[in-house]
Amino acid sequence: MKQGGSDAAKRAAGESAAETVEDGQVVGLGTGSTAAYAIRAIGRQVDAGLDIVGVPTSFQSRELAREAGIPLADLDEVSVDLAIDGADEVAGGDLIKGGGAAHAREKIVDASADRFLVVADPTKEAETLSGPVPVEVLSAARTTVAEAVRELGGEPTLRQAKRKDGPVITDNGNLVTDCAFGAIEEPAALATDLASLPGVVEHGLFVGLADEIHVGREDGVTVREF
Ligand code: 5RP
Repeated sequence: MKQGGSDAAKRAAGESAAETVEDGQVVGLGTGSTAAYAIRAIGRQVDAGLDIVGVPTSFQSRELAREAGIPLADLDEVSVDLAIDGADEVAGGDLIKGGGAAHAREKIVDASADRFLVVADPTKEAETLSGPVPVEVLSAARTTVAEAVRELGGEPTLRQAKRKDGPVITDNGNLVTDCAFGAIEEPAALATDLASLPGVVEHGLFVGLADEIHVGREDGVTVREF
């Protein structure tokens, strides 16, 4: 997972995407440090009178949005106009997500949005996706999925918690296996293979979902459309 981007670059990306939010929209609120800048910026716009409803993608984004004063709804109550979310790696319009283990809800919200904007710093950009792919699994399927991932040519590692003994438990109560495949030349095919494994809740390959990426730099933002 690439975590080396500067706060200034993340802020520039997040705030650039937040500027596109329009009055009356339902906005998917992504997870992670870059999306957090967008959520805080949207909160300031709400303070100034912007009328929107946010749909959080995780416990973290819900808490942050509440602090920022953004009115919230669940996905089953609304339909999302615009989603803004971070990424761990970006190659063209394809992404690896799940560094915060939130990719299952993120994918539901981001895929349902009319427009999905990715916010990232330049360290996330790559020619070809090659980072480990987070795979959320039911705990009962941990070993069968790991075996199947090896058969697909990947090396699975159960993600361990940092300040708790044992594994990371997702917001959905499941485990995360980070699966290293090396360079992923055919992300769509791998996405289909991973999604078909019994016990996989969701994987972090977001193929062809992004509409725009805002890449923040210390001195500005580059926006690319797909
Ligand atoms: C969480 C994610 C995040 O969007 C991704 O990890 C990027 O985070 P950050 O902006 O902190 O680098 O997918 O599951």
